[in-house]
Order: sequence, then C-alpha cells, then structure tokens
Amino acid sequence: MAIVITVAQQKGGTGKTTLAANLGAALAADRRVALLDIDPQRSLTRWSGLRPAKMPRLDLSEAAGWRLGAELDRLKSTHDVVVIDSPPQIDTDARLAIRGADIVLIPVQPSPPDLWAAEGTLKLAAAEKRRCAVVLNRLPAAGRLRESVIAQLRESGHALLNATIGNRTGFASAFAAGMGVTEAAPRSIAANELRALLAEILELAG
Ligand SMILES: Nc1ncnc2c1ncn2[C@@H]1O[C@H](COP(=O)(O)OP(=O)(O)O)[C@@H](O)[C@H]1O
Ligand SMILES: [Mg+2]
Repeated sequence: MAIVITVAQQKGGTGKTTLAANLGAALAADRRVALLDIDPQRSLTRWSGLRPAKMPRLDLSEAAGWRLGAELDRLKSTHDVVVIDSPPQIDTDARLAIRGADIVLIPVQPSPPDLWAAEGTLKLAAAEKRRCAVVLNRLPAAGRLRESVIAQLRESGHALLNATIGNRTGFASAFAAGMGVTEAAPRSIAANELRALLAEILELAG
C-alpha cells in the first residue's frame, strides 16, 4: 500500500508547494509517485507542466470535493507514494487530505504568524489521529529568532523534525525548470537538506 504524505499549513507562502514538488521529485528517482494537487491555485500542477520529459515520471492529479476520496484511493492503488499539496486554509478537502495521510508535514518559517498558523493544522491532525511533523523552512543558520522558534516548538511538544531547510535560491530556480533541487543541483546544500528531510519523513511514515 502506498505511503501518503500530506503537506499542510493554514498559512500561505510557508513552502507547502515547494516541499511537495521537491519531495515528489526526489522520490520519483526510484518509486512510482503521484502528486495530488488540491489547492485551487494549482501551483503544483503548473510546476508539473514545466517538467522536462526526460525527468523521472511524476503523475499529477487534481481532485476536489466528492471526487477526492476516490481519487486518493485510486492513486494509492497504482503508486508507491502519494504527495498531497493542500490549500492555505483548512477546508473540507484539506481535512480529507489530512485524514488520508500517513504523515502530515507542516512547513513553518521561523516567524510568529507561521507558528500560530501551524497550531490549527497540528490540532486537526491530532483530532484525526494522524502522525504529523513540523519542518522549519527558510531557517537562518544562526541567530536569536532561530533559537527562540526551536525552543517554542520543543516546548509545545510537537514533533519537530531534525532536518531543516535553509533559505536557498536553488528552490526557486529548480521550480522554474519543473524540477526538484535534487535533480537540478544534486550536490547543492538545498539538495542535501531535502534528502535528509525525505529520509526522516520516510522513517516516520515507515
Ligand atoms: N527554503 C526556501 N528557500 C527559498 N525560497 C523558498 C523556500 N521555500 C519556499 N520558498 C519560496 O517561498 C515562496 C512560497 O513558497 P510556496 O511553496 O509557494 O508556499 P505555499 O505553497 O505554502 O504557499 C515561493 O516563492 C518559494 O520559491
Ligand atoms: Mg502552495
């Protein structure tokens, strides 16, 4: 049965689509991967449309409303991993995507609004008894903000991943080419961070 990774966070601009695309691309090297875009903005769908034909295959699907549950079941039966990118609000579709997840990945940038927005997603995942993991995105290498955000997350008892992602321009340039950082710049720091994130997620979802 497939592993379902749902990337969710009520706030926009935290890195959901970037991480969904990059995790999908990294996984596609050796697995059958489906991406399910349930965000009406369809950024992941547009990214997938840019993907060069020579890159490992990634099946992209869009679904909403009453079709979503059946579409997720279909993708699970035909793939090893399904990565779901969700909208910046918890609507019925996002709820279903969380319910169907083996792991809910919550990207948080080190700033109070991101932390506050994560609370709602964490609560919902807990109510649905889903395993969730917070990943710090665009994290500065050092500084007071970094330390205080990490301390706050630890204190609240939420599953904070060891893997973190820095603020790397490579994410935008790979995205613009329909690729992940592990494909566009496999030896970059961004690619190393992404691989570490993926390994940790797979271990948790295992
Ligand atoms: N780690 C990162 N380093 C640099 N830029 C990033 C990083 N993560 C996301 N971004 C940029 O931040 C913006 C918002 O990211 P996006 O993935 O679209 O967020 P969301 O899907 O949560 O709205 C995009 O321009 C993206 O390129
Ligand atoms: Mg998005």
